[in-house]
Amino acid sequence: MIQLPPGIRHIPGHLDMDAQRLLVDEIRRVVADAPLYVPAMPRTGKPMRVRMTNCGALGWVTDKERGYRYQATHPVTGRHWPPIPPGLLRLWDDFSRYPHPPEACLVNFYDPRARMGLHQDRDEEDFDAPVVSVSLGDACLFRVGGTKRADATMSLRLESGDVVLLAGEGRLCYHGVDRIYPETSTILKGAGRINLTLRRVTKP
Ligand code: SIN
Ligand code: MN
Repeated sequence: MIQLPPGIRHIPGHLDMDAQRLLVDEIRRVVADAPLYVPAMPRTGKPMRVRMTNCGALGWVTDKERGYRYQATHPVTGRHWPPIPPGLLRLWDDFSRYPHPPEACLVNFYDPRARMGLHQDRDEEDFDAPVVSVSLGDACLFRVGGTKRADATMSLRLESGDVVLLAGEGRLCYHGVDRIYPETSTILKGAGRINLTLRRVTKP
């Protein structure tokens, strides 16, 4: 067993196949209402490799002009994000140890060649609440370090149904996804990986 940085927890296999299927169905309905779109990096406008959407009162978005932020509407359709489905709210209740509901759930879709660079989740006002993250579909190689970019990092494989928590002193740890392992899960119709991250954005 590798020793994860303080405040980082990995719960392998938290969701069994039936629970994963239910969550995939919930996310399909979210995506039907709020389609995945290609976000762009601040300033450069470089497209990200991961496609995104959100559910909840607020959603995390990024574009060339206005950069990283939360907003109540989908940047392409202009509509409000759909609500966070019950299966995800349950996960927050199970793991967050936080007395208020999440406001945002970012839905990341990785095709087999997508990756996500090392970053901190720091666009929220409230770092007392954890980030609760769940993986569905193909496995990935997840990297996590300390709260400074130069800190040593370690890698772990996340499988479909795994939960990761960034809480307490781990809340601002750098993390990213180095690679997707294609054809390692049959839970999605096609290839790829979905990651869902639940967050509290505003101070209650
Ligand atoms: C993220 O940091 O937004 C996603 C992490 C992951 O895909 O596991
Ligand atoms: Mn993140």
